[in-house]
Amino acid sequence: MNKIKIMSVFGTRPDAIKMAPLVKSLANDNRFNSVICVTGQHREMLDQVIDVFNIKPDYDLKIMKKSQTLQYITTSIMEKLGKVLDDESPDIMLVHGDTATCLVSSLTAFYRKIPVGHVEAGLRTFDVYSPFPEEMNRKLVGSLATLHFCPTNSNYQNLLREGVNKENLYITGNTVIDALQTTITDNYKFSNDKLNQVDFKNKRVITLTAHRNENLGKPLEDICDAVLEISSQFDDVLFVYAVHLNPAVMNVVYKKLDNHKNILLTKPLNVRDLHNLMNKSFMVMTDSGGLQEEAPSLGKPVLVLRSETERPEAINAGTVKLSGVNKDNIVKDAIELLTNEVVYNKMATAINPYGDGNASKKIIDGILSHFNKE
Ligand code: UD1
Ligand code: UDP
Repeated sequence: MNKIKIMSVFGTRPDAIKMAPLVKSLANDNRFNSVICVTGQHREMLDQVIDVFNIKPDYDLKIMKKSQTLQYITTSIMEKLGKVLDDESPDIMLVHGDTATCLVSSLTAFYRKIPVGHVEAGLRTFDVYSPFPEEMNRKLVGSLATLHFCPTNSNYQNLLREGVNKENLYITGNTVIDALQTTITDNYKFSNDKLNQVDFKNKRVITLTAHRNENLGKPLEDICDAVLEISSQFDDVLFVYAVHLNPAVMNVVYKKLDNHKNILLTKPLNVRDLHNLMNKSFMVMTDSGGLQEEAPSLGKPVLVLRSETERPEAINAGTVKLSGVNKDNIVKDAIELLTNEVVYNKMATAINPYGDGNASKKIIDGILSHFNKE
């Protein structure tokens, strides 16, 4: 069999982290000719990931600009990626998740009749405006893609209900668990020195991130107010908030939380630092999709700062709780975990529903079986 030419396209922090184990496996497998194209939808936050995993992209579309719009991202990726696809003509393109990079790349490939493999397929909230635009992106990529790699059985069932042919569906686990197995180490020394100063023995550290589009404005302000309240009530608690570079996030968070007792604000952390920070933390509070998947496999309870989630498995498993974005509710849920050992232990010992760290291998097997059928 000739080598299968695979072009993997990603461009933001989360899709880079979750594609990293897969592109590393593809590069080491002589059945494939692996080509990597990054869109550069993110810049510093993407570069942090490709540095940690030592990934050398073949193409970098370098599209990011400050406070970019969806329309700008869409047109610039389509224009630039189209040229790359015309030059490379891959046998298949792999995309990840629900970002603008994922949707636009899939559509650009579809226009050229290049099959698309969708990694992290089938997640749904069933509300097209939340998360916005990610829920719609996922649905559209579900229609554009040929192969669908679902992290869990419930993702698989969602796609079956939408009429996707069973032959093209695979349950693989989430590649983020593959990534976690390479980043967590004992006696870890952080590359962000602020974290080396943290007293993890005497402080209960809460890893915090919040950046989602739906939370910009009032919800983010309420989240910050909740953090102020909790940090003033518990002297043995330290929030470590790794602040996203979006100016609409930074402006609010630094104004409200900078220079407060028991709160440490940092720049985006490289993924190894972030994973090891979570591993040493008492709990996690976040609106991020990725952290909702990672924390359960580290045995850390998560309060989700959103009113819905496309990741019900972790809620059903009992390790994640939806706290919403109402200040009083967030404070109540956090205080319960900080004061009630029984509730805490129940959440901390629930089972991780996102796989065993072999997702990349299962995805590669799926791709091979698809091409062998032809
Ligand atoms: C994007 C994704 C979202 C994902 C998030 C992960 C879409 C529609 N949204 O949202 O699903 O959860 O990434 O973080 O694809 N910025 C920088 N440097 C960076 C990254 C961002 O300065 O490295 C700033 C820029 O001003 C940029 C802004 O953040 O314009 C927003 O970035 P963008 O990718 O448009 O949206 P995110 O909110 O990051
Ligand atoms: N992450 C990171 N540094 C940070 C914050 C998050 O490396 O400062 C990682 C995190 O471990 C997870 C991913 O980035 O793997 C999640 O990305 P993000 O929250 O930006 O996007 P989402 O998952 O919400 O789409």
